[in-house]
Amino acid sequence: MTSTKAPSGEVVLEAVGLTKHFPVRRRLRQIFRKEHEAVHAVDDVNLTLRRGQVVALVGESGSGKSTVARLLAQLYPRTDGDIRLHGVSTRVKGGRPFREYAARVQMIFQDPFASLNPVHTIRYHLTRALKIHGNAENLDAALHDLLTRVSLTPPERYLDKFPHELSGGQRQRVAIARALGARPEALLADEPVSMLDVSIRLGVLNLLRDLKERLNLAILYITHDIASARYFADQTLVMYAGRMVEGGDSETVTQTPAHPYTKLLIDSAPDPDRLIADIDPLEEDRGNGEPPSLIRPPSGCRFHPRCPSAMPRCSTDLPVPLQIGDTPGHWAACWLYDSPEVAS
Ligand SMILES: Nc1ncnc2c1ncn2[C@@H]1O[C@H](COP(=O)(O)OP(=O)(O)O)[C@@H](O)[C@H]1O
Ligand SMILES: [Mg+2]
Repeated sequence: MTSTKAPSGEVVLEAVGLTKHFPVRRRLRQIFRKEHEAVHAVDDVNLTLRRGQVVALVGESGSGKSTVARLLAQLYPRTDGDIRLHGVSTRVKGGRPFREYAARVQMIFQDPFASLNPVHTIRYHLTRALKIHGNAENLDAALHDLLTRVSLTPPERYLDKFPHELSGGQRQRVAIARALGARPEALLADEPVSMLDVSIRLGVLNLLRDLKERLNLAILYITHDIASARYFADQTLVMYAGRMVEGGDSETVTQTPAHPYTKLLIDSAPDPDRLIADIDPLEEDRGNGEPPSLIRPPSGCRFHPRCPSAMPRCSTDLPVPLQIGDTPGHWAACWLYDSPEVAS
């Protein structure tokens, strides 16, 4: 793979002011009695993926993480903002331009069973990925190589199996192998281990880390489990109700969180000693269905109605990212840090 020779740290993919508003469905329009309302799923998101680095995007369910991944994968058109591949603004809509984009930016989904076709063998899935991306010259060796890379060895044992004959972890390894068949530069992994048994999650994360290093991949790791972000990611970004609220290197964000929401995420993790948590800690907190807060998001800071430290300005002024302490790159969008003497 020639592309692995790119320098580590090279910027592959950037989101700049990325925004997605989904039109509200008719049933909900009746409830809210307004036309042209929208779910403000993602607002003004900035992130940068670099070769050889993992960026974690953390937040409770419904915060807009999958939408960010799907926008970056060009599966949805964006409402506003930009997506830059190697610095070049990119918008593709299917066909050959999409295939060319997907050859460089691949997604891995949460549910490996849903993403593999039950009537086809592993050989079929991987062959197809290799062919679509023009990497099928010397097919047998390429298939062998893909399965070996994801530690499904010996490959002959897996090639002619069907998805249901594999365990969840093995299926996710096949989904990863299929993504590698495109020889991508970036992987967008949307909760890649949250449907797997707790006991095998670490193995799959370690595989992704190994691939990051060997293939010099840029990885976006989406999770609701901030403890796994600390373990696995170089940088961590925290998202709440469609907006980024904190970011920095993973150690700093998880050990000395600044934003009250990040603190809440860490404090409500069910067991701080367990690296890979099993549940979404804040899921029970929320009502069912479409969160109304994203149709009419709270003014000012979206977290202010739940924030134990909210001040009057938090309900009116949208917080801007503020540098935290003297750790380079650590920021939080929180008015608590607007004047140094108030911050603690
Ligand atoms: N295709 C869609 N149409 C309308 N609303 C959507 C769509 N996809 C996601 N949403 C809404 O956008 C918000 C963010 O969803 P999502 O990105 O899936 O969050 P997460 O992955 O963090 O759980 C949610 O309120 C969700 O209901
Ligand atoms: Mg999601």
